[in-house]
Amino acid sequence: MNNQKKIALITGANRGIGYETARQLAQQDVEVILTSRNEVKGQQAAEKLTKEGLSVHYLPLEVDNVQHVTKLKDEVLGRFGRLDVLINNAGIYLDEGQSILSITTEVFESTLHTNLFGPFYLCQAFLPIMEKNGYGRVVNVSSGYGALNELDSPHTASYKLSKNALNALTRLLASSVDSQKVKVNVADPGWVKTDMGGPSAPGTPQVAAEGIVWLATLPDNGPSGKFFYNKKITSW
Ligand SMILES: NC(=O)c1ccc[n+]([C@@H]2O[C@H](COP(=O)([O-])OP(=O)(O)OC[C@H]3O[C@@H](n4cnc5c(N)ncnc54)[C@H](OP(=O)(O)O)[C@@H]3O)[C@@H](O)[C@H]2O)c1
Repeated sequence: MNNQKKIALITGANRGIGYETARQLAQQDVEVILTSRNEVKGQQAAEKLTKEGLSVHYLPLEVDNVQHVTKLKDEVLGRFGRLDVLINNAGIYLDEGQSILSITTEVFESTLHTNLFGPFYLCQAFLPIMEKNGYGRVVNVSSGYGALNELDSPHTASYKLSKNALNALTRLLASSVDSQKVKVNVADPGWVKTDMGGPSAPGTPQVAAEGIVWLATLPDNGPSGKFFYNKKITSW
């Protein structure tokens, strides 16, 4: 098992941090399953990486759709036989600056569906398989906005709540598996220049992805159930 090439799946990987994470993981000789909800863009992204000589496959996935996740699980197990690494990267950020008293129910629901329920569906699908196989690394891509102290100001309410709940979900999941074998951690990528982060962001997808890949390739004695920023534990 340990000598086999690892199989990793990344959500929302057609662009931004997810795309760069796919590249860096594949550069570490990991077999990467790049997923996205837009099939054309996802296929193009996977092809671009394949042209760089990397081992990258494409599968479609809308993370907020539990039927899609079930179908994806069957497809991954049918084609690859297992999954070693899961990176829950897909996310939406729809309510910048909006207060908890003014967000719409629609925005609140869709933010939770993508940023929280998506990772939940995927972890429920794949964690038991990882545990059975005796190896797993899960990285949930959260945000500094997910930290508890961010709840003392009311803006960007649904995004903050979704990432805070994702952090909590991570701890629950980490406590539900044998941490010697399966590690479940959270990465805060920082403020990053992507479609979501915008052009003024100081961080790059390259550096953000390095922190995610580091968690995705932790050794057997590495941590689990922790929140990381720049490869260092940060407070909840
Ligand atoms: N950029 C930042 O400053 C920053 C800061 C903190 C945390 N983060 C987190 O880092 C992660 C990646 O962000 P990014 O900056 O790379 O954002 P991005 O460039 O906006 O990319 C987001 C990705 O998520 C995908 N996605 C959204 N909803 C989806 C769904 N329902 N199913 C499947 N895929 C979906 C998007 O697909 P489409 O192309 O189809 O829209 C896209 O591939 C997110 O979780 C975000 O919250 C980012």
